[in-house]
Amino acid sequence: MASDLRKDARVARPTASLAGRPRWWRRPWIAPLGVVVLAFLAFSLPRYLGLDPQQSLVPSTFPGHYALLVAHIGFATVAMTTGFFQVWPWFRRRFRSTHRRFGHVYVLGGVIPASILAGIIGSASPFGPMSAVSHVFLAVLWLSCTVAGFRAARQRRFDDHREWMVRSYVLTLSIITNRLWHLVWMPVLGPQVDTWFQGSDIAMLQTEMALTNWLGWTVPLVVAEVWLMRRRPGRRRRTTGAASR
Ligand code: HEM
Repeated sequence: MASDLRKDARVARPTASLAGRPRWWRRPWIAPLGVVVLAFLAFSLPRYLGLDPQQSLVPSTFPGHYALLVAHIGFATVAMTTGFFQVWPWFRRRFRSTHRRFGHVYVLGGVIPASILAGIIGSASPFGPMSAVSHVFLAVLWLSCTVAGFRAARQRRFDDHREWMVRSYVLTLSIITNRLWHLVWMPVLGPQVDTWFQGSDIAMLQTEMALTNWLGWTVPLVVAEVWLMRRRPGRRRRTTGAASR
């Protein structure tokens, strides 16, 4: 028994201070994440606020496309901002009922409408079939992970809830990693129009967008999955330990 307690103390030491709160260096990500989210929204949204189709980065492919795009961006912004507060450990602990309320907004007023609209406009993407398939896959996964997380919370399976919502918010943020891949592929592929793409700007653009769109969400999702897998055995050990005491 005493040795069990000593073992537990050894496990707990790196993650918790005396007050039981995680040490500050265990959470060095929340402020940078907030800055990145704010910067993304500040750079991406203004061109859509004036409701001027000429300002859009996405050429319309069917009547009503622009309206659906703007609605998608609006709902996705709700998901991105409320999701930030949902993953902030201090905010979750301090404001439990707000966490529940924001959770409803994230799911019902953010991800569900944003992902359905993303699936519709994504299936008719002006950037070619590879991008369209990526958008539809992502939209379905985003919706599925979020609904699974929502159901888990309602059924009080909170470990599952946390895991599904990590996946969901990683997918929400994948629009940001998507932007980073542009910075990689544009300078690599742009100068190759006359060689690899035999003078076709369209082939170059569609290739660049396809790589960017697929890598934008698959890489973060794999990283998140590995992270979740690595913390699972620890979680099981702690749960078993708690149950046996
Ligand atoms: C994670 C699932 C998401 C999917 C599947 C998705 C899908 C799409 C699609 C299909 C387009 C039109 C571009 C095209 O047809 O290639 C688009 C544009 C856009 N989306 Fe999303 N989106 C997602 C998340 C988000 C989030 C979380 C935001 C945050 C606000 C967002 C903001 C935008 C913006 C600003 C545009 C306009 C194009 C641009 O400025 O680059 N999207 N999205």
